Amino acid sequence: MKTILTGVQATGTIHVGNYLGAIQPAIKSANSTNDKSSFFIANMHSLNTVKDAKKLQQFTREIACTWLACGLDTKKTVFYRQSDVPEIFELATIISNVTAKGLLNRAHSYKAAIQRNLDAKRDPDDDVNMGLYLYPMLMTADILIMDTNFVPVGADQKQHLEMAGDIAKAFNAVYGQTLVVPKEIIKTDVGTIPGLDGRKMSKSYGNVIPLFCGEDELLKCIKRIATDSSAPTDPKPTDHLIFQLYKHFTGTDLDNKIGWGDAKQKLFVAMNEAIKPMRDKYNYLMANYNEVEIILADGAKKARAVARKTLDRVRNAVGV
Ligand code: TRP
Repeated sequence: MKTILTGVQATGTIHVGNYLGAIQPAIKSANSTNDKSSFFIANMHSLNTVKDAKKLQQFTREIACTWLACGLDTKKTVFYRQSDVPEIFELATIISNVTAKGLLNRAHSYKAAIQRNLDAKRDPDDDVNMGLYLYPMLMTADILIMDTNFVPVGADQKQHLEMAGDIAKAFNAVYGQTLVVPKEIIKTDVGTIPGLDGRKMSKSYGNVIPLFCGEDELLKCIKRIATDSSAPTDPKPTDHLIFQLYKHFTGTDLDNKIGWGDAKQKLFVAMNEAIKPMRDKYNYLMANYNEVEIILADGAKKARAVARKTLDRVRNAVGV
């Protein structure tokens, strides 16, 4: 049986693009696999970008409640918070000794930070902290501690997974076969999810539809979508984002011989119908977060049982 691990960072409120592009496909595959699957919230990674305790807690809650509301089956998937598994951090310290500095020097996000400084004629290390520098190594510890075989990730995480493989191999080369060498599964693109202005839905463009906003706000968002002045009976371009979003949520095409107002109304009804049961569950869980804490505590217990075994093996291999 293979072990599959998925990690997500806790940064910011979840939108429809996150749901269609990442959450829904990940839950579908986690709930249908016969492999061992684990899913964790990488809240220690978020410390690098979120420097406000209340915010980080809020983001972590939102992520936990979102995945549960969207149907993650915690009977099948071990669901935990990274910060609840201290074995990860001990492993990170140990593997730092077989991690080449040059490897981390080549990490894309670190290199980009250095380059931004050079371009701005600042000191290359300006505002670069060790959390950023060591990010790929901590991620490696997340993966190796669970004896992970496969990690489904977007293409942007490919380099991190290659580094995890390199570090596991470096450890095994020194100490003998101890750590499972993980492989990435690059997720096939579900297609760009358009935001309110037609560009990719993204927080940085300010064009998002929050996944769990109220019905009124959802309708308001949809009404904001720009349309042209064609007559109600004119056929509409089916690549317009109203039609794209409709297709994403229902799996079927919306008839394009329809006025924009009607199209928006139909999109609202379709989206609201799909989202409502999840929104209700989300609101319930946010209001009864103690129930989520119980689920997370159970997940942490299961995760730590696996982590402890890996760490004992590693400690034994290195002689501590
Ligand atoms: N870096 C990942 C991201 O930004 C999140 C992450 C942290 C992760 N640790 C991981 C993903 C371990 C998979 C496995 O998306």
